Amino acid sequence: MIKTVSNKILHEDMTYILGKLSDQEKEKISNSRILITGCGGFLGYYFMHFFNTFCRELEIREVIALDNFLTGTRDWLDEMAKGNERIRLYKFDIIKDDPGDIPGMDDVTHVIHAASIASPTFYRIYPLETIDANITGLRKLLDYYSGKDLSGMLFFSSSEIYGDPFPEFIPTSEDYNGNVATMGPRACYDEAKRFGETLCWVFGEKGFPVSIARPFNNYGPGMNINDRRLPADFAKCVMENRDLVMYSDGKPTRTFCYIADAIAGYLKVLLHGKTDVFNIGIDRPEISVLDFAGLFRDNARNIFDYNGDVKFDKPEDAEYMTDNPNRRCPDISKAKKILGYDPGIFVDEGIGRYLEFLKINNGGLL
Ligand SMILES: NC(=O)c1ccc[n+]([C@@H]2O[C@H](COP(=O)([O-])OP(=O)(O)OC[C@H]3O[C@@H](n4cnc5c(N)ncnc54)[C@H](O)[C@@H]3O)[C@@H](O)[C@H]2O)c1
Repeated sequence: MIKTVSNKILHEDMTYILGKLSDQEKEKISNSRILITGCGGFLGYYFMHFFNTFCRELEIREVIALDNFLTGTRDWLDEMAKGNERIRLYKFDIIKDDPGDIPGMDDVTHVIHAASIASPTFYRIYPLETIDANITGLRKLLDYYSGKDLSGMLFFSSSEIYGDPFPEFIPTSEDYNGNVATMGPRACYDEAKRFGETLCWVFGEKGFPVSIARPFNNYGPGMNINDRRLPADFAKCVMENRDLVMYSDGKPTRTFCYIADAIAGYLKVLLHGKTDVFNIGIDRPEISVLDFAGLFRDNARNIFDYNGDVKFDKPEDAEYMTDNPNRRCPDISKAKKILGYDPGIFVDEGIGRYLEFLKINNGGLL
């Protein structure tokens, strides 16, 4: 029996995502067999909860969920798979393991390739694994499904493929080619995503239905507070009632896209079913990282008995800020126009939702 989501925030978000899909998109997903790699990660958490909640209503026949759990978590996934016969969970390394060993792989209709470490702290600990998941792993899936009857595949690229754009390219649209370092602490991630896109394009030219999403700074429930990305660090400080520590001067600016909006966008890119690339994020407000910390502090004061504040410190890691972009803001007009993508949860509300979720879940994911 499917265990329904008991966390109010998660439950509302699942309904919100469903509401963002058009009838045509719901039609396209019905009768599907979905393969997802990286199911134990942040985005995986929302994809899996969405499929678990609505697989019957949307007539999704099966979800094959793969992760090597290098950084992902699995207690919540074990629980979910135990309670839903349409979900099959496997510990699987997309770099080394053979897709042919998993039953039902040939009948898959939609592939979501989300396996790749996304946290800068961890991709710098595992640079080769990050490169390989985005190139060797991606190539393996493209080869495996070439000539098979796939309706669509989604490759997760990143806004990092734009590097540090010159000011005239902010907001950044899909046709900006980027200002990226081939060498340095972030290059393993940025350049792997760039080459991954090239692989998709080459296969797309041969008729393979692969579409690419470029996510811009997602945050929210499902992001493990030990993940070491900025929103996770702030959430952890709040949970431990410590000051929010800034390791930069706080001046870089970003727009922050709440996870429920982003997942709706990714599903739209997946169901597009044609080779194309889309920025998925939110285009306002563009705020400084310091202001982002302030919103965490203010929300935390309302939601918890939080009495910390924002403070500055030197990072332990001397390369923490190397090649960190100064501004990040997407132009999302292409996704709006072609996919009907329409994010609506702004950063103040989104941070509140993330903290409410963590309060209900005692800081954990299960
Ligand atoms: N979250 C964001 O804001 C964001 C931004 C840009 C790009 N992305 C991209 O979206 C995708 C998902 O992001 P996320 O935030 O969920 O990342 P995440 O790091 O939280 O999760 C990635 C998951 O992939 C798994 N994994 C890593 N290597 C693997 C392998 N070889 N085989 C099987 N599983 C493997 C990890 O164990 C983890 O569970 C990634 O490709 C990421 O680069 C995300």
